[in-house]
Amino acid sequence: MKILGIETSCDETAAAVIEQLPDGSLQILSNVVASSAEMHAATGGVIPENAARQQIKSILPVIQEALKKSKLQPSDIDTIAVTIGPGLIGSLLVGVETAKTLSLLWDKPIIPVNHLVAHIYVNFLNSSPELPALALVVSGGHTDLVLMHSHNHIEWLGGTRDDAAGEAFDKTARLLDLPYPGGPNLSKLAEEHLTTNPNSKLDLFPRPMIHEDNFDWSFSGLKTSVTNYLASRQLSSIKRSEVAANIQEAIVDSLISKAKKAIIKYKPQSFLLGGGVSANSRLRHCFEEEITTLKKLKDFAHLAFHVPSPALCTDNAAAIAATAFFKNTPLPWQQISANPQLTITDKVI
Ligand code: KG4
Ligand code: ZN
Repeated sequence: MKILGIETSCDETAAAVIEQLPDGSLQILSNVVASSAEMHAATGGVIPENAARQQIKSILPVIQEALKKSKLQPSDIDTIAVTIGPGLIGSLLVGVETAKTLSLLWDKPIIPVNHLVAHIYVNFLNSSPELPALALVVSGGHTDLVLMHSHNHIEWLGGTRDDAAGEAFDKTARLLDLPYPGGPNLSKLAEEHLTTNPNSKLDLFPRPMIHEDNFDWSFSGLKTSVTNYLASRQLSSIKRSEVAANIQEAIVDSLISKAKKAIIKYKPQSFLLGGGVSANSRLRHCFEEEITTLKKLKDFAHLAFHVPSPALCTDNAAAIAATAFFKNTPLPWQQISANPQLTITDKVI
């Protein structure tokens, strides 16, 4: 079984081919991502119309390259999987309409995929996480904590009340005059401080809602705190790397403390991280430490921690094709449409 995945929900244009081997494992035959980050850097962020225009140019060459790298012909593909939402409507339409056209031309069905669910299922590419699993999706537009009882039953436990974790990275990065994409650049600057000051206290900024008895977050106040901090000091006295490390720690700390509460309450078999922010090295390191500590307790000795390789944390089509193997409901192209408002628990069919 071979699936061609297509992903165009935000600013990337991606295609990948995944094969399921006879033992059930999934193998990446190709995984191509065309980024338009340079174009967005020039405008300081993603302008939806610019993103979609670029994606129209990139989509066919990207699919052709994915097929070429997989050494397959269209006739070797069993099904096309495509992100139908959530995302930017113009961008989603590029992927969805291309998938529908190829479906008609090649006579292949389509499996519609929820982009947020794909950020979880990318963890099933190289391993077989046991369920029930807790999963935290931290991306540019979403922060969701869910309990996966089974592949057909995902329960939403909580999420952000305002900005997403990635949005908090991106917006505070702008306050530090860092170029787009903010998250990775802020993280790089923070590393400079952490390398030279590994034991410094990183408590300049608040962690709202951290003590509340729920699984929700609020990140919009972080921008205000950072703005006030920068406004009340002489620029020359501000160490930007120290501010970056403090911003990063406030986000990481908030995410980990609520996730840990959920692990203690639900005692899952696995904990899965996904979404662009999970490429953050501090977040990965701190989660690994927390889970290693928890595993020393009898109740959590079985707990397995899964996080994708950094390249598979951010948007890619291997995640989309991988998801399709678990949400395998092929449909004729006439029944496929984009849904920019999809939530993580919405069914796609
Ligand atoms: O999942 P993703 O690629 O796209 C969405 O579905 O939104 O996530 C993009 C987000 C952006 O906010 C970006 O700044 C953030 O992930 N991000 C990072 C890092 N790499 C990507 N944030 C912090 N540290 C990173 N290393
Ligand atoms: Zn994403």
